Amino acid sequence: MPEEVQKGLEDVVALASRITFIDGNEGRLVYEGYDIRDLAERSTFEEVAYLLWYGRLPSATQLRDLKERLRPLREIPEELRALLARLPASAGPMDALRTAVSALAILEPGETKTGESSIGGALRLTAALPTIVSEQNRRRQGLEPLPLRPELDHAAHALYLLTGREGNALENRSLDVALILHADHELNASTFAARVTASTLSDLYSAITSAVGTLKGPLHGGANERVMELLRAIDTVDRVEPVIKEKLARHERIMGFGHRVYKVEDPRATILRVWSQRLGEAAGNLRWYDLLRKVEEVVHREKGLYPNVDLYSGSVYTLLGIPDDLFTPLFAMSRVAGWTAHVLEEYEDLRLIRPVAQYVGPNHLAYVPIAERPD
Ligand code: CMC
Repeated sequence: MPEEVQKGLEDVVALASRITFIDGNEGRLVYEGYDIRDLAERSTFEEVAYLLWYGRLPSATQLRDLKERLRPLREIPEELRALLARLPASAGPMDALRTAVSALAILEPGETKTGESSIGGALRLTAALPTIVSEQNRRRQGLEPLPLRPELDHAAHALYLLTGREGNALENRSLDVALILHADHELNASTFAARVTASTLSDLYSAITSAVGTLKGPLHGGANERVMELLRAIDTVDRVEPVIKEKLARHERIMGFGHRVYKVEDPRATILRVWSQRLGEAAGNLRWYDLLRKVEEVVHREKGLYPNVDLYSGSVYTLLGIPDDLFTPLFAMSRVAGWTAHVLEEYEDLRLIRPVAQYVGPNHLAYVPIAERPD
């Protein structure tokens, strides 16, 4: 029986996985053996999803087949549309998404399967999440859902659904890269939650419902929203230094910096920095990029901290016209590929995940009948 508690399961090796490798000292992120830098440069989200699900890059035919299978799965059932339309306008997009995934499990019991055959559910959820997020976002603004555009690839379609307009090639590619970068990240909290649920032999949709609920927490999803809040509050480059120094003096955390695993720069931040600049230059708006470079310089000088993925992603999404409160649902739209790959892996070699707790409560208390207990 282990005596030491590893709070937050920090550094605990909980299971073996072939999907994603992180080298925190070298700043490397690897999906199924492929460096994230190569994938971000040369692949697409659909290719990466295939890689995560099947453990190998697809051939041209396999990729075409995957895209053809995904396209019709973007449509969501009428009952789900009606449910989304009935949610109160106050429902947050992540609450709506969690409810929708859970509702789909009831509406499509055939797809929720437990076991290796649940790849059908993985495709379904990956295809349907952008539609769900878009519909709820539009409904709460009193807008009709957008007609789906089957001819668009996944990233271009997601951008269209989130903004209501078709992106140009640079914009579509930038979102494609962001989706690739967020698709998996080893045993992060939401992926672990999905695997715990799957390890009880529960179904895929229940596992993804757990994951969405876990991603919702601000310590996991959502730091990029806070980065944009900070940039708006700072407003001009000359104010970066005093504002950051003041925050650090108050021992406040600067969002978008530091990481539990990376001890150097998060490679996803390196890639997104370039995309933030590219998009800013194309839009003739380097405001966010210039502010971020200065924030980076000051935080590194003052605290020795490196940027993580969340530092630049918010600026990319803002330049694409995506509202702040859709940043975390967008993270889910990408991470669903990783979540489902991990659930499939869990089903292949299933072992109930059930750790132990160190008991620190009282023991051997004598039971006192209620009538004899003091008020
Ligand atoms: N701003 C200021 N100080 C920081 C920060 C930060 N962002 N991150 C760490 N530190 C300091 C912290 O105060 C502590 O200093 P000291 O030793 O003087 O008390 C030291 O660095 C170590 O911090 P820690 O909390 O022990 O490190 P951790 O590994 O538990 O924290 C983290 C990792 C991501 C929770 C933390 O860096 C943080 O809160 N960052 C801001 C939130 C953020 O950007 N989150 C997105 C993470 S990337 C998304 C993903 O991969 O899923």
